[in-house]
Amino acid sequence: MHSQEFARRRRHLMELIGQGGIAVLPAAPECIRSRDTTYAYRQDSDFFYVTGFCEPEAVAVLIPGRRQGEFLMFCRERNSEREMWDGVRVGPEGVVKDYAADAAFPMEDIEEILPSLLEQSDRVYYSMGVFADFDQRLLGWMNRLHSRRQSGHAPDELIALDHLLHEMRLFKSRREVSAMKHSARIAVAAHRRAMSVCKPGMREYELEAEFRHEFARHGVECSYAPIVAAGANACTLHYTDNSGVLNDGELILIDAGCEYDLYASDITRTFPINGRFSASQKDLYDIVYTANAVAIQKVQPGNHWNDPHDAAVKEITRGLRDLGILKGSLANLIKGEAYRPYFMHKTGHWLGIDVHDVGDYRVAEQPRLLEPGMVMTVEPGIYISPNASGVSKRWKGIGIRLEDDVHIQKTGPEVLSDKLPSSAEEIEKFMERAH
Ligand code: GLY
Ligand code: MN
Ligand code: MN
Repeated sequence: MHSQEFARRRRHLMELIGQGGIAVLPAAPECIRSRDTTYAYRQDSDFFYVTGFCEPEAVAVLIPGRRQGEFLMFCRERNSEREMWDGVRVGPEGVVKDYAADAAFPMEDIEEILPSLLEQSDRVYYSMGVFADFDQRLLGWMNRLHSRRQSGHAPDELIALDHLLHEMRLFKSRREVSAMKHSARIAVAAHRRAMSVCKPGMREYELEAEFRHEFARHGVECSYAPIVAAGANACTLHYTDNSGVLNDGELILIDAGCEYDLYASDITRTFPINGRFSASQKDLYDIVYTANAVAIQKVQPGNHWNDPHDAAVKEITRGLRDLGILKGSLANLIKGEAYRPYFMHKTGHWLGIDVHDVGDYRVAEQPRLLEPGMVMTVEPGIYISPNASGVSKRWKGIGIRLEDDVHIQKTGPEVLSDKLPSSAEEIEKFMERAH
């Protein structure tokens, strides 16, 4: 992401905070995986959004209107011994030069410098409850300032920073949309690759490996643990075991996306392991396909955020009724949420630096209106558990989800994942050509 983008975000945030405010954002801590090994480091999304800086042990501080500099950073110092083991650190000088900080200091100096910056401020903007250790440090500094109030100044207010930042993050800039398109493009290539090599007898993790290979060769990570669910495993919504066998005649559901420049894609396709849908599978698949299509058509500026969901619910309920899985009038079945045993999640969520991205879904007690620049998923599904009661055997153990990533433009929906076969016919044709 271009450095101008981060500068623009900081300017915008500082306008919202105004004179007298100070924003404090800690970097994500490293997480131990076992003893002295850590999980692959992932920067905190808010910290990244404001700084673009990807090292742990850092704190960003924004002080609008401060004459000696508005953007300050604390970070790890250069250290040739540590860098020999763990790799290069940017260091304070590098942070000023490459990340446009007005000043940067070693993390060790934070105790000395940050309390006096807080002391000169009226309002502290901070996201409480994300990093417990830093919460305690910040509260400690604030309490100390308050206890010495007679001799000095102390900020009166602690204001939720996430509220301001998450509203900003909900609306994607041109550069952000372009990163998300790239993320979707790589994920689409990975899905196509998995569809091309899939055959009966493989294990789910072999297809997961196709995704990891395609992501790794583009230098990107998974944006969440891939779900590779053959047969009835697809009825477990967050199945990540990925060790089952791919049986001839069953479907496989793959929900996998990547993170490019930290921007997530989140795409699901469900396809026949042997390349041909059975009649029962196709009956259910076509319902989900139509639900996905009608829901995407509702992703229009000015529509309510839940309009795509309502459209998908209607289509799925109608489809299940036509197949005899639900019985009754369409209106009553929708009103009584009769579809819920088979479609138990929402049709989508915001998508961005987090896969379930930030931003309120309701504003003033009303479902939010969709606006240009938002990006969301559209992901209806039907899951008929092997244990479903009162359902014919022919439907049991079938789980289907079809998930696309959709950018809301002034002119309507732009589907970022549209290069991936989607209808039953497209999938069968694609698999036939690939095998
Ligand atoms: N991959 C998680 C989701 O679709 O929301
Ligand atoms: Mn997904
Ligand atoms: Mn999703």
